Amino acid sequence: MQSMLSQSWQTVFINANIATMTQAATSYGALENAALAVADGKIAWLGHMSQLPELTASVEVIDVDGQWLTPGLIDCHTHIVFGGHRANEFEMRLQGASYEQIAQSGGGIVSTVEATRKASEDQLFDAALPRLSALHSEGVTSIEIKSGYGLDVDNELKMLKVAKRLSEALPVRVQKTFLGAHALPKEYKNDSDGYIDLVCDEMIPQVAEQQLADAVDVFCEGIAFSVQQTERVFQAAKQHGLSVKVHAEQLSDLGATELAARYDALSSDHLEYLSESGVKAMSKASMVAVLLPGAFYFLRETKLPPIQMLRDNNVRMAIASDANPGSSPINSIQLMLNMACTLFRLTPNEALAGVTCNAARALGIDDKVGEIAVGMEADIAVWDISQPAQLCYQFGVNPLTALFKHGHKVR
Ligand code: NIG
Ligand code: FE
Repeated sequence: MQSMLSQSWQTVFINANIATMTQAATSYGALENAALAVADGKIAWLGHMSQLPELTASVEVIDVDGQWLTPGLIDCHTHIVFGGHRANEFEMRLQGASYEQIAQSGGGIVSTVEATRKASEDQLFDAALPRLSALHSEGVTSIEIKSGYGLDVDNELKMLKVAKRLSEALPVRVQKTFLGAHALPKEYKNDSDGYIDLVCDEMIPQVAEQQLADAVDVFCEGIAFSVQQTERVFQAAKQHGLSVKVHAEQLSDLGATELAARYDALSSDHLEYLSESGVKAMSKASMVAVLLPGAFYFLRETKLPPIQMLRDNNVRMAIASDANPGSSPINSIQLMLNMACTLFRLTPNEALAGVTCNAARALGIDDKVGEIAVGMEADIAVWDISQPAQLCYQFGVNPLTALFKHGHKVR
């Protein structure tokens, strides 16, 4: 019966060690001295080498000679489409200005908005492609990209169209998130409720109609939008059949996570100031905690997210780059793996789950990617390492030797 099945196999990896990452498993869900078969772009079989059925002559056999296979990595929170850069603000911060002070004095997100509005769709695409390419070269096969630097109808749509084009340019799955409620554009100075009207009544309906987003995000913070305004955006998103998520408790605890839990959010992201009631709400709603060590590092934060409390309450933790020009100009998922361990004290197993199964869950695509299991898409990274913790331990030498998307070799 098994050998009958094997006639449809296109590719078989042999002599592999596999970090299956199945259900946030302990010890990476490791399967050593194993083989894995692909048919129709999906994982068709995996098991110990000794159980591998006889193969037909037409099967492509890839002997990985003891290397490790992981699911293709997933960066579940990025802002890689933007114009310009903010090196000037980096210098200001080095001289003592805070991220919040810069935002309050008209810099920060709003300065990237100006540069993004000025850029054409082609220019934004050309600027974003090397960022995506950098992540892809480190094993990323799925990514989330947010809008949020347009802040008017046309420019938000422009950003999401660029994200869509990126998905056609490289073999990476792109989940698009509409983040119109990222900051208050200058045209709406002193009228933030008026801007939220625009987000809810015009932007969300158009984004939904043109199928330009899978989810809606809000930056709920003192320097951004209130809990009440966040709730209005969530209601509009739900009316248009879009999932929600939130940038929450990054600089203060406003309780946005508890609100998001009531709206069945996929994830709550940042979370340095998350309270115990926020953790409990996430646990009850099965939300993913997306931790962003790059922003923590780059803003030189000192308050850690409540990692142990998240663990104790069985909240799944994802790790993402948050790649953006202000708080995390870092396009490296491998560095995030390292920082998740060094800065947040995650175990390497937790960190790797954070960029595979739990990241997939944070994007609502965990039925397709993020684990190596039969029926999942064959997005597979091949690493020249002798134990999975090496992916977190070292940085700067890329151990990726091959990358497969839907079973096709793409690197
Ligand atoms: O995730 N927190 C809000 N948004 C981004 C930062 C965006 C920016 O500073 O340009 C973040 O950190
Ligand atoms: Fe972010």
